[in-house]
Formats: sequence, C-alpha cells, structure tokens
Amino acid sequence: MSMSPPVGIDSLGVAFPSQYLELADLADARGVAPSKFVDGLGTRRMAVPGEDEDTVTLAARAAREALALAGSNGEDVGLLAVGTETAVDHSKPVASFVQGLLQLPRAMRVFETKHACYGGTAALQLALDWIRSGSARGKKALVICSDIARYGLRTAGEPTQGAGAVALLLSEAPRLVALDAGMSGIFSQDVNDFWRPLYSKDAQVDGHFSVKCYLEALEGAYRGYQGLAAPTAHARFSDRFAAIAYHVPYGKMAVKAHRHLRTLDWDPAPDASFERLVAPSLHFPAEIGNVYTGSLYLALTSLLASGGEGLEGQQVGLFSYGSGSCAEFFSGTVLGGATARVRSLRIPERLAARRRLTVPEYEAVMVSREEMDARPAGDGKGAPFHYLGVAAHRRTYAPAES
Ligand SMILES: CC(C)(COP(=O)(O)OP(=O)(O)OC[C@H]1O[C@@H](n2cnc3c(N)ncnc32)[C@H](O)[C@@H]1OP(=O)(O)O)[C@@H](O)C(=O)NCCC(=O)NCCS
Repeated sequence: MSMSPPVGIDSLGVAFPSQYLELADLADARGVAPSKFVDGLGTRRMAVPGEDEDTVTLAARAAREALALAGSNGEDVGLLAVGTETAVDHSKPVASFVQGLLQLPRAMRVFETKHACYGGTAALQLALDWIRSGSARGKKALVICSDIARYGLRTAGEPTQGAGAVALLLSEAPRLVALDAGMSGIFSQDVNDFWRPLYSKDAQVDGHFSVKCYLEALEGAYRGYQGLAAPTAHARFSDRFAAIAYHVPYGKMAVKAHRHLRTLDWDPAPDASFERLVAPSLHFPAEIGNVYTGSLYLALTSLLASGGEGLEGQQVGLFSYGSGSCAEFFSGTVLGGATARVRSLRIPERLAARRRLTVPEYEAVMVSREEMDARPAGDGKGAPFHYLGVAAHRRTYAPAES
C-alpha cells in the first residue's frame, strides 16, 4: 500500500431529471414481459431528461451541490474537468459552460475528457495525480461526470437509457473517500462494442458483445490490481473490500461482473457475496438508469448513502469501464462521517418526488429532443440553469437565480 497522503473525494453532488419512466410500463408498451426488464436486466426506472435539460444543465446542478456540501464558493478550485460522451459542442467543452453558469474563477484549467463511460475516470485519475504531485498547490479539482444515455426508441438498448450527473470535488484533505495512490489495474483495447457516429444522437451498440468486452476488461483490470496489492489474510482476494462498486449500465451487468470477479477469486459460490458486497451500490442506479460516465460514481454514492456507518474506515473496490475500450480497477477507504454527509443530500427523497411519465409522454420528449440542438432560444427566458436554445449559433442557458 502506498504511503502518499490520502488524496481523494472531499465532496460530491448528484443531479438527475425530475421525470422518469417506469420500466414495467415500457415493457407493456413494447409487448415484452415486465420481468425481462425488471428482473432480466435489473432495471426498475429510468430518468428521462426534459426538453430544457442537457449534459451542461445536469453537470452544473451536480457541481453546485458538490461545492455546497463542501462549503466551497469555488475559489479553491484550480481544475474543472467534465467527463462526458454526450457533449453539446464539437469544440467548446461542457466544462466552460459550467464555469460560466457557476461563475467560477478564471485561474483554473477547464476541459472535457472522452472515452465512452470511462471518460470521467480518466479525468478523476489525472486530477488526483495533479493534486498528489504538488502541482495543485493546495487547490482542489472539480471532476464532473455528466451524460444522457440514449439508444433510440424500440431498440434493444431502449430499457437501458437514463440521464444524470455526478460531480466529485477532489482534495488533499478528503472527507468522503481517500483513493489509494498507484493502486490501479488497467485494461484497454481497440474494439467496437459501443459507439456513437458523428451523425447520430443515438448510440450504436453490439449489446451482447459489449457485455463480453466489459467482462474481459474487468478480468484484465482486476488481475492488474491484484498484481499491485499486498497480501492479506482473507481467503478470497476481494474479501479485503467491504463493498465493490461497478460500472452499472443496467443492474444485471453488476451481477454478471461480480459473478465473474468472484470466479476469478476461485469462489465456488460466486453469487453468495452479492448482497453483502454489491447490492447497496445499486439502489440509485435502479432508479435512474444508465448515466454512462457517472454510473460508477452514482453506484458509489448509493453505497455511501445506504451502506451504513459500518462502511467507514473500510476499503472499497471500484471498477470503471468505457466501451472502445478502457477499464480501471482501483480502490479507496471510506472516511469517518462520509455516510452521514452523503445522506444529507437526501437523494432518496428527491428521487421519490419525481414525476412519472406515461409511455406516450416519454416518446414525445425523446422525439422533440432530436431537434433541441438547433432550437431557437426564443425570448431568452427559462428556469434557472436550464437550456434555452440557440441564438446566433451560441448555445444559451438561463443563469442561476440571483
Ligand atoms: C443488455 C442488452 C444487450 C440486453 O439485450 P436483449 O437481447 O434485449 O436481452 P436478452 O435477451 O439478453 O435478455 C436480458 C436478460 O433478461 C433475461 N430475460 C429475458 N426474458 C425474461 C423474462 N421474461 N423474465 C426474466 N428474465 C428474462 C434473459 O435471460 C437475460 O438474462 P441473462 O443476461 O442473465 O442471461 C441490451 O439491453 C443492450 O444492448 N443494452 C445496451 C448495452 C449495454 O448496456 N452494454 C453493457 C456493457 S457496457
């Protein structure tokens, strides 16, 4: 184990749309047994973005919450990165819009990172090393994972959509999770399991192949991590972790991932530890669906919010996967007070307050969103932090309430 100071996650914020679709309703409408979506895929509900919501508005709201939880006005942030695979411009990063909406200081690096669902982890690892190296000179990094997962109506991927953002404030004096320096197992390869052509809003996916690629990458990354770790007295390698949060495109994928990982641990009953090690991380993903870059961090948030104080002081494993592909298995220690801090965000209450859409309402939003990038901004008025439309080729947003 490394002796570096415990750099890690000081604070976090989560944003998701205020409307959702019940997957059982979608199954009925598509003529599929509801048990296929709910049990077969492990998805219960999926967040549906409104016509004035996009990657920027979700990122800005999550970032505002992370800063508020930390008691920061943003003056202590020296790096702002947004990991996303559903950016809003070919050139201008989502992070710049967020900097403007949050009125963050100008003496900071601002950029976007992309590698499918791994893009946020790429930013996180670079930002952690920036802090560890001393180059940050005491400044914090704000890394935001924000995405709208969209596969298109009546496709196999339709029940595995979702939308949301998780913002992570990283510092050298973290209050949530200290991340283990140098403890990363990595696996990457050039593969076509999921992609989104420049001409399309909808992702293309070779679904069953993507599951295979995910598991192959998990194996490579986990083996890499094992090669770096010191031995412990545990019978199975992964029993050193009090919990493992996986990238969760849909709940069943985490089941498959954990089964595979425990098989690599020579566990003759590879599902037996699922409830203990994985289930607490799946509550929020089951309510929101896939949020691409943010999926692992939504799972971690779910774990912190529902794992209880017994988790504090314990080591947790984290697995990030991005199609295309790049994967990383890494770890950290949950810090004292972390679970109460995350519970103070009242995420279950906010999820319960969302509006349930009918299938026709959901379909109408999805169709109208196809045109939103070119929609005229109109009178320039709208709800704070929401998308207004395009004016003189500029994407515009309503500012925060003054
Ligand atoms: C995940 C995905 C491939 C599923 O595709 P699909 O062909 O529609 O679904 P399947 O026929 O494989 O069925 C899914 C599961 O439901 C189960 N199932 C089917 N009907 C069922 C029913 N009536 N009741 C309960 N379970 C049922 C299947 O047995 C299968 O379970 P298993 O994976 O444990 O074998 C598709 O949703 C997709 O492409 N999603 C996006 C890609 C993605 O998220 N990839 C993840 C890696 S990044």
